Amino acid sequence: MQGRSGDLVVAVDGPSGSGKSSTSRGVARALGLRYLDTGAMYRALTWWLLQSGVDVDDPAAVAMAAKEPEIVSGTDPDAPTITVDGADVSGPIRTPEVTAAVSVVSAVPEVRAVLVGLQREIIGEGGIVVEGRDIGSVVMPDAALKVFLTAHAAARAERRTAELAPGSATVDATEADLARRDRIDSGRAASPLAKAEDAVEVDGTDLTLDEVIATIVGLARDSRRVS
Ligand code: DC
Repeated sequence: MQGRSGDLVVAVDGPSGSGKSSTSRGVARALGLRYLDTGAMYRALTWWLLQSGVDVDDPAAVAMAAKEPEIVSGTDPDAPTITVDGADVSGPIRTPEVTAAVSVVSAVPEVRAVLVGLQREIIGEGGIVVEGRDIGSVVMPDAALKVFLTAHAAARAERRTAELAPGSATVDATEADLARRDRIDSGRAASPLAKAEDAVEVDGTDLTLDEVIATIVGLARDSRRVS
């Protein structure tokens, strides 16, 4: 996937709270590309399992149900959408209940097989910035540009806490929750969170959002992946 920005695939992986969503949307806007939030797909399936009364701690039950809901992602970076069986779930997938359950659901191999298949269909011919945990390593190993976005734990916790309803969580509690999710995401057998060998690591701890976006747009241009 080289040449025009039209067929470019940019993979943005990294731990929770590293700023992947705002960064990926900004890069997509700057380069005129589509945008896919794969975490939202894992959240949408988790929301549906909880709604349907499936025991999310039972991998066999989760595996059996994984193909049932129809999950559809919109790819406009200015207005990303996600629906389950036609219903808009962009709000409900961000609730604490879904956040608490999503890591165990996404560790189930059958879940990953279903959602990675959907992701590859959406990515299709390219022209897209895709954020997740395993995009550069598993979903699109031949992506033209792979970024692994990190930030120190305290910076990630502060950013995540600021996104939550005021007073709903302390920075310390958020940091502990991020650490718990990182542990599950990095320790699972199926496609763990890991930096692809050929990914460029970008540490956003001391950078503004605009600086991180400019860094990644620069990487795309410098390497002549886009003009
Ligand atoms: O990016 P996020 O916090 O919305 O992702 C929610 C969860 O989904 C995260 O805990 C791990 C999982 N996930 C994954 O396993 N693989 C991806 N490509 C994206 C997210």
